[in-house]
Amino acid sequence: MLAPPDDQARAFREDVLAGLASSIPAIPARWLYDQRGSELFDEITRLPSYYPTRTETRLLQSIMPEVAAQVPAGAAVVEFGAGSAAKTPVLLEAVQPAAYVPVDISGEYLEQSAAEVQKRFPSIEVIPVVADFARDFALPQSIAAKPKLGFFPGSTIGNFVPWSATDLLRRFYKLLGTGARLLIGMDRVKPVERLLAAYDDPAGVTAAFNLNLLERINRELGGDVPVDAFRHEARWNEILSRIEMHLVAARDVDFNVAGAAFHFDRGNSIHTENSHKYGPRGARLQLLAGGWTPVAEWTDPERDFAIILAEAQPERFAP
Ligand code: AVI
Repeated sequence: MLAPPDDQARAFREDVLAGLASSIPAIPARWLYDQRGSELFDEITRLPSYYPTRTETRLLQSIMPEVAAQVPAGAAVVEFGAGSAAKTPVLLEAVQPAAYVPVDISGEYLEQSAAEVQKRFPSIEVIPVVADFARDFALPQSIAAKPKLGFFPGSTIGNFVPWSATDLLRRFYKLLGTGARLLIGMDRVKPVERLLAAYDDPAGVTAAFNLNLLERINRELGGDVPVDAFRHEARWNEILSRIEMHLVAARDVDFNVAGAAFHFDRGNSIHTENSHKYGPRGARLQLLAGGWTPVAEWTDPERDFAIILAEAQPERFAP
């Protein structure tokens, strides 16, 4: 079950207050996605420098016959996230499942996108589930007996640090059950200049997306953060193989949030997001750690992005 709005508001306040007071200030990336943040992310996906969405969509189109051949008839597709107007129809068209279950925390957005899918695919039973897929929730009873295909595109897995990505994948395993399959998008390591351009675009859309978190804090928590005192920074962390988004204080700054006072020296940052990038072995190892055995893997010709089909094989005695 999704936490009611009051609980969401409380969780946001607690995360922000604890995150700002921490010795390494950080706020969980999930709070980037209010209405404005979701709109800005949507804009990011269309930027020339943000290659993942474009590359994954094209790759999906080209591999669909092979994917569809591996999915049993009468399957239920469970998408973790509300689904994208570009990617989801490609999968549904090819697989022709009996049911489609998009799972998303944002009820309003989910209802709207599910209605569009239902209109386009009248013969598929579309059952939206409002839930945070990183927490406990149940699948609809009507798909219990159907073969399951999980769909987790966008390299959203990369926004989780390896130990929580492992937890998340194990959660998917438990939810979908032994024998299920998972089709997952995982962004690849590539030259740092390209990564930095993707996360710090010249039009400043990613900067606006990051800075919107401070606007949100001011809007929803009665903060007086001087947003113009912070600047967006994308950093490549080589050892952890990830892009990090930070909000860096451009000058010494004092502000209040929900009655608590904070001070940031010039140059200090609030860490707001991680986006892990995977090599071929690292991607497979992450899936295996979460209980999923890769059975097929595809990349685009430039090897910028990978889509992996994995199977929830039964746990068995291994030497
Ligand atoms: C949603 N997620 C996969 C995006 C990413 O690339 O990590 C979020 C994003 N952050 C900045 N640009 C895009």
